[in-house]
Amino acid sequence: MSLTIGVDIGGTKVAAAVVDESGEILRSTRRPTPSQDGDALVKAVCECVAELSEAHEVTSVGVGTAGWISSDRSTLLYSPNMGMRDVPLREMIQKSCDLPVYIENDANVAMWAEFRFGAAKEVDTAVLYTVGTGIGGALVVSGKMVRGTHGTAGELGHTRVVPDGRRCGCGRWGCLEQYASGNALTLHAQEAAKSNPHEAEILLDLAGGDADRITGSMVTEAARRGDRTALRGFNFIGRFLGNAVADIIQAVDPGVVLLGGGVVDAGPFLIDPVRRYCNDGLATRRETPYAVIRPASMGQNAGVIGAADLARAEDA
Ligand code: BGC
Ligand code: NA
Ligand code: ZN
Repeated sequence: MSLTIGVDIGGTKVAAAVVDESGEILRSTRRPTPSQDGDALVKAVCECVAELSEAHEVTSVGVGTAGWISSDRSTLLYSPNMGMRDVPLREMIQKSCDLPVYIENDANVAMWAEFRFGAAKEVDTAVLYTVGTGIGGALVVSGKMVRGTHGTAGELGHTRVVPDGRRCGCGRWGCLEQYASGNALTLHAQEAAKSNPHEAEILLDLAGGDADRITGSMVTEAARRGDRTALRGFNFIGRFLGNAVADIIQAVDPGVVLLGGGVVDAGPFLIDPVRRYCNDGLATRRETPYAVIRPASMGQNAGVIGAADLARAEDA
C-alpha cells in the first residue's frame, strides 16, 4: 500500500496528512500559515512533512496552494492575493525533505479529491468552484485534471463577468472573484446595511450596530434568521455564480458542477440562487440534458487528500 503526504496551504493554516490509496487519512498535523514570508512558509511545510514521515514511510509529497502553478508543477508563477511571483516552491521544499514534491493549485487538489472519492466520483467530467475569500476553479475532463498549456487552466475566479468592473487582485477588472466570493458577499452586505439600515436589523445587531464589522459568517447567520439584506447578498453573489456556471456548462458539458469552499456552508442560501440563475440562463436547453449542481462533499480535508492522491498518480 503506497502512502503519500498531502499538504494544503491555506490562508490561516498549513494542513498536512498521510493519505492511503483509498483516500483515508492515517495521520495529520498542522501549523499556522506565516504571512508574507516565503521562507517561513516553506519551513512550516517541511516541519509538517518531517513530522509525518517519521511516523509513516511515504513516497512523495503533494502541495496545494492558491495561485498559478507552472506546468511542471515546480513553481508558483503568480498568486493574485498573496502578492508572490515566480517562487520555486518545489525546489525550496525538496531541499529539506528529500522526497519528490509536486506543487498544485488549491482548487485543483480539492477537485481531484471530489473526483476520486467525493461528490464527483460517478462522472468523468466535472467542474469545481471554491467560494471562499477568493474564488478558485478546477476542471476534470475525461478523467484528467485540466492544466492547460502553461499549467494555469481553471482559474474560473478570474474570468470577467463585468466589463470594466471592479479592480481585481490579479490585475484585471471585473473578475468573478470580485462579485461572487466570500469577500464580495461581505462587502455587499456592509454597503447595503449602511444605505438601508432598517432592512438589515438582524445583521446590524450581530455586528454590534457597526456595518463595517459585518463578517461573512454574520451574513450566513442573519440569512438563517431571515434578514433581508443578508438574503439579498446571497442572491447577489448567486446570480453571478449561477450565470458563470451556465457558461461553463456550455463550454465543458460536465456531469456535475460542484460548489465548495467556506461560503458553501451557508447551504441553500447560496446553492438555491446559483441553481435558479443557472437554469434561467440555460432555459433554452431545458429539453436537453445538462449538469447537476451540487455541494462538494469532502469538506476541510479535500485539499490534503487530493494533493496526496495527485502526488501518488505522479509516482506511478
Ligand atoms: C487564485 C486561485 C485560487 C483561488 C482560491 C484565486 O484568487 O487565483 O489560484 O485557487 O483564489 O484560493
Ligand atoms: Na484551478
Ligand atoms: Zn481577477
